Amino acid sequence: MFSGVVQRGTEAYRRGVFDVLASVLGPRRPAANSLDFGSGDGWFAQQMLAAGLVSKVTAVEVQPRKKCFVQPVLFDGGRLPFPDRCFDLAYSIDVLHHCDDPRASLSDLMRCTSRLLVIKDHTYSSALCLRMLQLLDAQGNRRFGVPTPYHFQRRWEWLPWIEQEGFHLRTLIHPAPCHGGIFGWATNRIQFLAVWERL
Ligand SMILES: C[S@@+](CC[C@H](N)C(=O)[O-])C[C@H]1O[C@@H](n2cnc3c(N)ncnc32)[C@H](O)[C@@H]1O
Repeated sequence: MFSGVVQRGTEAYRRGVFDVLASVLGPRRPAANSLDFGSGDGWFAQQMLAAGLVSKVTAVEVQPRKKCFVQPVLFDGGRLPFPDRCFDLAYSIDVLHHCDDPRASLSDLMRCTSRLLVIKDHTYSSALCLRMLQLLDAQGNRRFGVPTPYHFQRRWEWLPWIEQEGFHLRTLIHPAPCHGGIFGWATNRIQFLAVWERL
C-alpha cells in the first residue's frame, strides 16, 4: 500500500514538473535536437516528444534502468560523449544534485547546447529546507539505487556559473508548482525551473 502511495506521488510530481516545463517551452520554437541529461527511465523524454516540444531527443544516463520509455546512451558521468553545441536544447531534470561535481557537469552540459539550457532542480536557504530536501531525495531515489550525495544548490549559487559561460537567464520559476495541495505549499519553495539562452 505504501509503495502505491509513493508511486502515485511520483506520477503527480512528474506531471507537475512537466506542466511547468511545457509552460515555459511551449511558447518557444520547438527544439529540433535535444539532450535529456540524466534521463532516468526516459519519461520526460517521451513526454517532450509527445507534446511536440522537441523533434528529436537523445537521452543520456550513467545507470541503466530495467524499464525505459526512451533508451539512454550510457556514459561514465565524466565528459558527455557529444561534440560541442550539437543540440539546440539541453535539459536536466533533478540530476545536477546527484552529480559528483555539479559545476563540472553543468559546464559540460552547457558545452553541448547551441541555444537553450533548461534546469529543473532545487534551492534551499535554511537548515529546515535542506533537511526536507535530504529526506525527499532519499525517499524518492533509494528504490532505484540512485546515489544521493545531496549536492544541492544553496540559495542561487549556480546562476553566476551559468551566466559566466555566456548564457542569459530568460525565465526563472520559483517556487515551481511541482507538488499540489498542502504538500506543495510546504515544499514548492525548494523547487525551481529555469531557462537560459546562449548569447
Ligand atoms: C532523480 S533521477 C532523475 C531522472 C529523470 N531526469 C527524471 O526526472 O525522471 C536522477 C538521475 O540522474 C542520474 N545521474 C546521476 N549522476 C549523473 C551524472 N553525472 N550524469 C548524468 N546522469 C547522472 C541518475 O542515474 C538518475 O537516473
